[in-house]
Amino acid sequence: MSKLKTGIIGLGILGNEHADYLAKRPEVEVVAVADLRSEAAEQAAKRIGCQAYTSYEAMLAEHKLDLAVVATPDPLHAAPTLACLAARVPNILQEKPFATTMADAEALYEAIQRQRARFFINFANRTSPLDIATRYTIQSGLLGQVVYGESRLDDNISVPTKMWGARTREWAAGSSTAYFLLSHVVDLLRFYFTPAEVREVYAIKQQQVLGYTPDLYDAYLTFDNGLKVRVKAEWIKHIDDLVEFYMCFSGSDGTLIYNKRGAFNCTPGWRANLHKDLPAAELLTHQQELAKLGANVTARMQWMDPAAGALKAGTSMLLPALEFDGLGYSEWMALDGLFIDAILQDTLMPSTWQGLGPLPNQEDGMRQTVVVDAIVTSAETNRVISL
Ligand SMILES: NC(=O)c1ccc[n+]([C@@H]2O[C@H](COP(=O)([O-])OP(=O)(O)OC[C@H]3O[C@@H](n4cnc5c(N)ncnc54)[C@H](O)[C@@H]3O)[C@@H](O)[C@H]2O)c1
Repeated sequence: MSKLKTGIIGLGILGNEHADYLAKRPEVEVVAVADLRSEAAEQAAKRIGCQAYTSYEAMLAEHKLDLAVVATPDPLHAAPTLACLAARVPNILQEKPFATTMADAEALYEAIQRQRARFFINFANRTSPLDIATRYTIQSGLLGQVVYGESRLDDNISVPTKMWGARTREWAAGSSTAYFLLSHVVDLLRFYFTPAEVREVYAIKQQQVLGYTPDLYDAYLTFDNGLKVRVKAEWIKHIDDLVEFYMCFSGSDGTLIYNKRGAFNCTPGWRANLHKDLPAAELLTHQQELAKLGANVTARMQWMDPAAGALKAGTSMLLPALEFDGLGYSEWMALDGLFIDAILQDTLMPSTWQGLGPLPNQEDGMRQTVVVDAIVTSAETNRVISL
């Protein structure tokens, strides 16, 4: 079979990651890269051994691509993706967020459907074993009815002030923690809680420190199954690490705590405290199912703190739990590998994705944009937005 002729648009931090990953896949041939910054395009082209362009239009005119990757900054996804669609590129892999305006999202969605292109969006968190474990735990009903959750995804202040060198201020001004960070969180919540969808949004923002972009967004999302989740993302934290990411979900039977990227004095890890009466055999079965999905969690009967036990007089002091200590990451760019499998197998659900639903596509992109747009609008107007 001939290799998938691939072109990459936007050779910054992520575009180079995609290029290097895809160049190593035997089924792929990266034939061209395009970036407005000629040195970025040339450097990547030299490393990979392909042609460099400063215009993606020229690249698309000269190459009949099987796959295009779009990794331009947040507000600049629509134009190159629409150009790829107009050039009838059959497979497109675009970075998140899907779009930063509803107008862009609608134009993208309409063109993808019209051209019947296969479109993927790089919601990379979905491949992390502990996110898959979170989805499994929620979908298997191990927490009972989940009623509340909270998520904090914060970047070091260096991200909106330094990350893209001299281009940083403009970059951050064109985006915000809503588009850059909450797009990931909104997508993860949909992944964990499918088929539930957000129906109501209330959000605030603060804009006093950075000035050129909001310092933070803090939003309450109400889902159509009654679940309420608070999602917060900051860009003004003076912290040691680049990112802090914490999630917690409480249900009628248990609580899941996920320190995805630990903060000060807090080690990364994942723990689901389950119903006290869950039989040990069932706990072990779930552990084995999770291992099949790549999440090697420990099954344990956890001694409750004696004080907590005393407060729950009459209940067992032993609590069944599933636990993982440390960072449970997948290979960086793992989703690219799954997208290639999906193209080769002509499906949105390749065998390598183990029945975890369709890979993230334009439907997920559209829904993510609707929710993030509502967060931004709510914070601007101080209104509750119904979707
Ligand atoms: N999936 C993830 O986990 C993840 C993580 C980080 C960033 N991202 C996303 O990846 C995207 C790229 O982020 P980045 O940090 O690599 O940005 P970047 O600024 O480092 O790279 C973007 C590149 O696009 C180029 N570019 C801009 N307009 C162009 C045009 N019209 N034609 C050709 N090239 C153009 C820029 O010159 C730059 O080199 C963003 O949307 C970001 O949110 C995704």
